[in-house]
This record gives sequence, structure tokens and C-alpha cells, in this order.
Amino acid sequence: MAQAIPHSMRVITTNEEMSQACREAAKPVALVPTMGALHAGHLSLINQARTDNSTVAVSIFVNPSQFGDKKDLDKYPRDMENDLELLRRHGVDLVYAPSVGEVYPEGFNTWVDVGPLASKLEGLHRPEHFRGVATVVSKLFNLTRPTRAYFGQKDGQQAVVIQRLTVDLAMGVEVVVMPTIRDADGLAMSSRNDQLSPEQRFAAPVLYRALCQMYLLWSGGERDANVLRDAAGMILKSEPAVETIDYVSVADMSTLDELQVVESRVMVSAAVWMGAVRLIDNIVLE
Ligand code: PAF
Repeated sequence: MAQAIPHSMRVITTNEEMSQACREAAKPVALVPTMGALHAGHLSLINQARTDNSTVAVSIFVNPSQFGDKKDLDKYPRDMENDLELLRRHGVDLVYAPSVGEVYPEGFNTWVDVGPLASKLEGLHRPEHFRGVATVVSKLFNLTRPTRAYFGQKDGQQAVVIQRLTVDLAMGVEVVVMPTIRDADGLAMSSRNDQLSPEQRFAAPVLYRALCQMYLLWSGGERDANVLRDAAGMILKSEPAVETIDYVSVADMSTLDELQVVESRVMVSAAVWMGAVRLIDNIVLE
């Protein structure tokens, strides 16, 4: 009877060892950057990376420079043991799990500024966020030199920022953006969902319902962006568990500029607070 061959996965913590492992790995190499606390959304990226490439590398690094609020950073979920077990089962070859000191050693001084794309939508509410994301992703790309890197549409603005960055800095990495994975009730999978109380979790799909309402209006021919925003806003306001609405947006997919008239590829998105948990979601109209 055929024996299952155990998959060997290397867990690496230093820049030097990671660079060397990627240089020596079978090509093409894929990188799936994560902050751990892995869920089905991450696994869909890893499965696609496994299908498309000879080597799959996953990074697990809770990147302090993309958190404005120290409390948010401290309470970000971490579960390395479970993550490593999942990655092993999904056939990952290399895991990069550096310390904060390895990524940001003393004297670290270079930041990647992605310009106006970083100051819209999420950037308005989290001013340093995309500078932190762009810097760590650039560093990970330089260390691993992947052919392809995988990101989720769930963080829609992040995907746009990273696509821009790889083109602008001629990184030579193909950015693959995979569809959002949702729970059965529509809530987009996120490591933060576990922080919702049972009542908040029950109410949370309102965010997706609001986006679907924009989609329905648009597919019925509505092209006035304010009509779409107002319709979504009304649905969100009708849910008492939504304490604050940070934004409801109808934006151009590549510039992220707010639109008056819905024309070409558009991302409709929203961000809300339920208690101390901030939820974001989006749908692309195309
Ligand atoms: O999407 C995330 O988990 C993070 O923003 C990323 C891309 C791993 C950078 O820290």
C-alpha cells in the first residue's frame, strides 16, 4: 500500500537563512504574507499558491509599524502552534517567522511611502497603516524574491496599494488577489472576528448586506454613487450593534478616488465599529 510521505516544512526566523532558502528553492517561489491567526481566507491563498508554484513560502509576522494603536497591536490574535500545524497540513515548504528585532533592527530608517493611495479610505482613519504595510511587504519581497505573491480582496485597498508599489518600484512580482472568503451568513473571514461578542457576531453580516444592497442597485442600473452610499448607510444605521460608521465608499478601483457617477471598475467598501472591533469589507462592481 502506498505510504503518505510526510511533508517537511522549514520554519525560519532570520533574514539571512530565509534569503538563502528562497535562492536555493525550486522555482517558481510563491510568497503568502500573513500576520498569523490563520483562517480559511489565508488557506485559500495558500492552496492557490500551492497549485501555481513549486515552492510556497508563508510569512507570519504581526507587523507593529502598521498598527496605529498599541492596544490594537497587543490584542491582535496570535497562535503560532496552530498556524504551523495548518501550514504543514497545507503543504507549505518555508515559513518565515521573524522577531520584531529581525525585521526592524536598531538603526532601521527606510520607509516606503505609497503616496495618495495610502491616505484615502483606511488611510484616513489609520494614518501610518499603509506605510507600515508597504515597508514590510517590500522587505519580504526583497528577502524572498518571489515570482508571485498572494493577497486577499478582503483588504481591498491593501491589494491596490501593493499592486501599485510592485509596479512603481519594478519589483517584478506578480500580485495575485484572491476572492474574499465568507462565513455562511456573509461575514468576511478575518482574524478580528473572534473578538466580537456573540451578539455582535450575530449582527456583523449587516456590513455585507449593506454592500450587497449597493450591488443590487448598481446591477439594476443605478449609477449615482450617492444613491448607493445612502442606501448602504441606511442599512448600517438600522443595526444598533454598529456604533460608528467610519466610511461608506464608492471609489475608482485604481485611484481609490470617490466617485459621483459609477462608470468603470469600482470598489464599494465600508468600515464600521462594533464595540472595540473595527470591521471592513468590500465588493468590486465590474
Ligand atoms: O494583510 C495582512 O495580513 C498584512 O497587512 C500583511 C500583508 C501580511 C503585511 O503585514
